Parts: sequence; C-alpha cells; structure tokens
Amino acid sequence: MKRLHGKNILLGITGGIAAYKSAELTRRLKDAGADVRIAMTKAATEFVTPLTFQALSGHPVHTELLDEHAEAGMGHIELARWADAILVAPASANFITKLTQGRADDLLSTLCLATEAPLAFAPAMNQAMWHDLATQANCKTLRQRGLFQFGPAAGEQACGEVGEGRMMEVPDLIDHLANCFEHGELQALNVMITAGPTYEPIDPVRFIGNRSSGRMGYALAEAAREAGASVTLVSGPCHLETPERVQRIDVETAKQMHQVVFAHLPQCDIFIAAAAVADYRPAEARDQKIKKDHESLTLELERNPDILSEVAHSQTRPFVVGFAAETQNLAQHAKDKLQRKNLDMIAANLVGQSDNTKQDIGFNSEYNSLQVFWPDGQTTLETTRKTLLARQLIQLIANHYQQKKNNEKDTA
Ligand code: PMT
Repeated sequence: MKRLHGKNILLGITGGIAAYKSAELTRRLKDAGADVRIAMTKAATEFVTPLTFQALSGHPVHTELLDEHAEAGMGHIELARWADAILVAPASANFITKLTQGRADDLLSTLCLATEAPLAFAPAMNQAMWHDLATQANCKTLRQRGLFQFGPAAGEQACGEVGEGRMMEVPDLIDHLANCFEHGELQALNVMITAGPTYEPIDPVRFIGNRSSGRMGYALAEAAREAGASVTLVSGPCHLETPERVQRIDVETAKQMHQVVFAHLPQCDIFIAAAAVADYRPAEARDQKIKKDHESLTLELERNPDILSEVAHSQTRPFVVGFAAETQNLAQHAKDKLQRKNLDMIAANLVGQSDNTKQDIGFNSEYNSLQVFWPDGQTTLETTRKTLLARQLIQLIANHYQQKKNNEKDTA
C-alpha cells in the first residue's frame, strides 16, 4: 500500500550532515506515492546541492524567499498552500529555534509560518546540543503547539560522539509522516511505557526476578501506537517481538530502567508503568558464582528507586499512569498507591490467581482484567485478552489526558 498516495509533501532541508539522508528520503517519499517539492536553507545547500534534489524530486528546488523566477512559477504562499504536510528533515537546532520564535527570515521558515498544513520536524544534531535545555524547551513548545516531532534516534554521530541526536531513519520518517494523516486520540504525543520484569543480579549466573512476561506492557505499546502516539518501550528481559514502529530500549535491572526512563522523560507526554520492577536488589552482586559451602545463606537486599513515584513527583511531570499488582485488597492498595505515588491514574490487577470465571489472569497470561482508579472516579475493564484490554485502557487514558489538558487551559 502506498501510504502517502496523492499527498503533496513539502520537504524542508536545513543545514546539517544528515542532509545527505534527505536524498534517500525524497526517493522514498515518492515511492510512498507522494508528490514532493523541496525547499532548502542556504546552509543546507552547503551540504548537498539543489541539483541532486531537483533530479530526485523532478521539480525545481526552492531556496530563495525573493526569487522572481520561482515566484513566477509557484510562489512561496502558493507553495505553502499546496502542501498537505511540511516535513523539515533534518531540522537543525538553529531552525528549531526559528520555528519556536515564529521567524520568517528565509524561505523555509516563511513557508512554515504561512502553511496551515500539518508541520513535522525531525531534529538532527550533536547529542550535547540535543540535550541542551534550550533545545528541549523549544521542542516541547513546538509539540504543545501541535507540531509533530519525529525522533531523534540514538547511536553513533557524525562528530564521533554517541548518543541521542541522529536524524530518525528514513523508513521511520515515512511511517510517522503517514501517521499524521491518520487521526488517532494520541496523535502527536510521545508515550513512554515500561514493561516486563527486572533482573537483579546475585552473582554472574543468578538473579532475583519475577513472573512478568511483558505482554501487558507490549500490548499497551501497540495500542498507543495505533492511537497515533510515538511510543518508547523500556523493556526488561522479555521474549516478545517488538511491536512495529515502536522504539524499544532493553534494560535488565531496575537501576538501568530508572536511568533510561529519566533520559527520555523530557520528551514524554504520557508515562505508563506496566513493568514489574523489583523493589529490592542484592546489596552486593558477587563477582564469582556463589559456592554451596554453607547450610544456609543470607542475602542482604537494598531498596531500588521507585521509578513511577519519582516520575510522578518530578518537576515537569507527564500524565502518569501506574499499575498495581496485588494478591488481596485490590481496591484499597490501588487507591493508596494512586495517592501516595501522586498518579493521574492506576490500573490494578490481581496476580497469582484466577478470576471468577477461573481464567488465569495477571502475570504471564494472555488474559487480564483491570480495576482502574483516578482521583475522583473508577471503572472496571472485564477479563479479556491483553491486546483488547490495552486498547480499552489507552482509550481511557487518552480521554483523561485530554480532559486534564482542557482543565489546564481553562484555569490558565
Ligand atoms: O508482564 P505480564 O506477564 O503481561 O503481566 C502484567 C503485570 C501483572 C506485570 C502488569 O499488569 C502489572 O501489574 N505491572 C505492575 C507490576 C508491579 O510491579 O506492581 P507494584 O504494585 O509492585 O508496583 C506499583 C507500580 O510502581 C507499578 O506501576 C510499577 O511499575 C511501579 N514501580 C514499582 C517498583 C519500583 N521500584 N519502581 C516502579 O516504577
């Protein structure tokens, strides 16, 4: 299926080494069925020539705001109106700042200001520039204004450093752009989900773990993506396939999960903690395998960080949804966690037993049922497959997220 069939896509290219990937992006956008026009900033033309993009798109490339030849053909306002969507890829830190400030001092920034079409940007820059608070604040502002942010991805960078800041890969950009035309409840939002167990090492061959399979969290990741979100799945050790178009980051211990979650928190709009995180870890993980020299062995355990609670108490907290896995007094324990951990919502499930129809639920089952609580209400999601249950829960989360945003607007 050509996911961008008949769509007019204006591809904006700014100055950065990732501009060379925009040549491939142009070809793939056309393969996906789009008619592609290109606007380049002056800095972008230092990296790749307009001629390359003219050959690939089959149309003259637009570079100047005041170009009488271009204006005689398709002028800049006409071009802004022509676009069904504008994608700026790569989007440099400088261009992101311009977008935030609403500048119109070159052709591309003018087009972005003049368009009424969906506007997406794919940040690409050095990892330190990406993590700078100014860049983070700018991106947050743009997302709040309804712009779509694609990426960035993490990995080795052109400057030799390793980290977040690479332009998202071309197939993922095409997918994300196509998603902009599919309106879901979580469109344009970044959702982070933890899933699976954590393994806390005792020695090189043993660990403390639990029975979580990751199914609930993975199903939520898929459902959130179907609702249009960009999804980051922080996964403990699981034997499950990564849902399509979901960014999965593998971790083993609670400490690693904590670190990854906080590294991605600034971009996160909704955080869902479905992982069964170990509350305690061995105080000391031995270097060598423990021998059975003694009749008994005592392990000293120390507390792990409570990831969910820390996220919910952080300064610029996202919308926060926790889980509660209980073997008794489900409602009471869940309500207590909702309040104590400062959550917007909590989904509580019974674990280690069957429901009243004798269906195995909770840990390591394909089925589950949930009692969901929020500060002034509750509902029950009856036993069904986790995939279906996840869709119901995502719908509920989307409604409450939207309600909260509307309330914030009313009181602002
Ligand atoms: O993975 P499956 O086999 O599909 O099973 C699904 C599930 C039963 C694991 C899932 O539905 C579930 O209940 N996940 C939460 C399990 C859990 O750890 O519950 P808890 O009541 O101990 O923790 C409360 C909340 O705090 C959870 O959101 C948990 O992710 C979070 N937490 C707990 C401890 C900790 N150190 N950090 C945390 O973030």
